[in-house]
Amino acid sequence: MNSVTLRSPLDMHVHLRQDAMLDLVAPLTAASFAGAVIMPNLLPPVNSVERLQWYTQEVRRATAAFSFAPYMTLFFRDYSEQELMAAREHMIGIKLYPAGATTNSEHGVQQIDAMGHVFAMMEEMDIPLLVHGETHGFVMDREAEFTRVYRHLATAYPRLRIVMEHITTADAVALLDQYENLFATVTVHHLYITLDDVVGGLMRPHLFCKPIAKRPEDKEALLRVCLDAHPKVMFGSDSAPHPVSMKESPGCAAGVFTAPIALPLLAQLFSTHSSLDKLQAFVSDNAQRIYRITPPSTEVVVEKVPMTIPDAYDEVIPMWAGSKLEWSITKPAHQ
Ligand code: NCD
Ligand code: ZN
Repeated sequence: MNSVTLRSPLDMHVHLRQDAMLDLVAPLTAASFAGAVIMPNLLPPVNSVERLQWYTQEVRRATAAFSFAPYMTLFFRDYSEQELMAAREHMIGIKLYPAGATTNSEHGVQQIDAMGHVFAMMEEMDIPLLVHGETHGFVMDREAEFTRVYRHLATAYPRLRIVMEHITTADAVALLDQYENLFATVTVHHLYITLDDVVGGLMRPHLFCKPIAKRPEDKEALLRVCLDAHPKVMFGSDSAPHPVSMKESPGCAAGVFTAPIALPLLAQLFSTHSSLDKLQAFVSDNAQRIYRITPPSTEVVVEKVPMTIPDAYDEVIPMWAGSKLEWSITKPAHQ
């Protein structure tokens, strides 16, 4: 197969930012995807109904030329029942960041154990919990250490749908079949790279992200569940743009920008592994079922037609800038 037509592809984890950056990157996401789960880690975070409504309008404005559904998220904090009731219809879920775990997470949760009443309300109201699952331990062990928290949450709140965001380890993959209410997103970069690609040769700031890419055996475990279209696994790019000045700097910001090349990268990978027939489930069907959503009906055609990844999108440098891809989008989402 040298071509694949994707029906309503979805990116279940993306950072669109605000202001000029939003205007730059949101159309790139909307050209590839029928909908996306929009992360709330702005400064200040999207942590009130008012900010949620404001940000929704901003994203809608920036994607007005497209048939695109923004699935908004609220930044986790100690919400009251009234606040959750009011926010519920405006969002798809609540994103929990441990304080200090990643970009703009300063306002994240200090003590997850002290938030039981919020998890209980979310379970009762059927609001999904999206989690950046890393501890503050040694960087390569943070996700594996966090599996203890996932086990606790999944057991204590058995009807709460919990999405382990951007999983990178075999440890996290192993949880999927152990707890009915645990789901996961996987990025495209974590299916291609390991820590070696980031720091094994020359250091590659544009491949530096949180969670950091792990070991070959972790990548293999991720690949296996994605290529099999495991029913609890969804595509979430975690495309996280930063201006080049923040990446090529002594303090490199975490985040890999993949939004415009994610589908070609996925098609190339699934094709190489003779699994193109599984791509539809990974990039849309699983997410529709897990989140119970019906995105706008669009078609995106990806074909084995070579492209060169642009050197930059304005001030943002994409993953593998300037290199060749065997696949490209020949019919984007809005046409
Ligand atoms: C994200 C960002 O820049 O907002 N960075 C990243 O490395 N993935 C935050 C996040 O999802 O961790
Ligand atoms: Zn993210």
